[in-house]
Amino acid sequence: MKVKAYLYGALTTLMGSIALQPLQAQQQSADAPAAAVSAGAVATARAADAPLYRVVEGDQVDADTLKGWKTWRAMACDRCHGPNQEGMVGPSLIESLKVLSRDDFKKTVLDGRIEKGMPNFGGTPSVAENIDRLYAYLKGRSDGAIKPGRLKGIE
Ligand code: HEC
Repeated sequence: MKVKAYLYGALTTLMGSIALQPLQAQQQSADAPAAAVSAGAVATARAADAPLYRVVEGDQVDADTLKGWKTWRAMACDRCHGPNQEGMVGPSLIESLKVLSRDDFKKTVLDGRIEKGMPNFGGTPSVAENIDRLYAYLKGRSDGAIKPGRLKGIE
């Protein structure tokens, strides 16, 4: 009996430590986003000093903006917003980006407006990762600084 009781005790201790592990893991991951958020805040503050995009002769852009344009093409946003962003089924993004805030832009593209026909792209890693680059490209189009059509990197 004593042996059994001992074994049982050892078993519950073991189970206890197993059960504890996920808890610790949870605590760690609860700390992680806080660190990520503050790192993000620093990045945004830095980005505020730098220009949103750089463009030469209308069709040569910095590497980030080029990725934004490639994301636009890969996701075929033109299917609804038109090849020159001037609107089709979806509104003209040339006009939209004159009034839509950067945050509202991100929210609309990532969450979508499903009931109004705008799909959500938040589950598509290439869009989620490039959302600021996509914004930079479309803002450049809206500002009239970037030409419609094919782009290349600044030489
Ligand atoms: C299937 C068609 C479709 C596709 C594909 C699509 N959109 Fe839209 N989009 C819409 C519609 C329709 C609306 C208008 C929703 C509304 O009435 O609020 C919209 C709205 C938007 C808005 C908000 C405009 C405003 O003035 O509030 C942005 C920004 C936008 N789309 C960007 C994009 C981007 C970037 C992509 C590609 C990653 C994309 N859309 C792909 C149909 C589409």
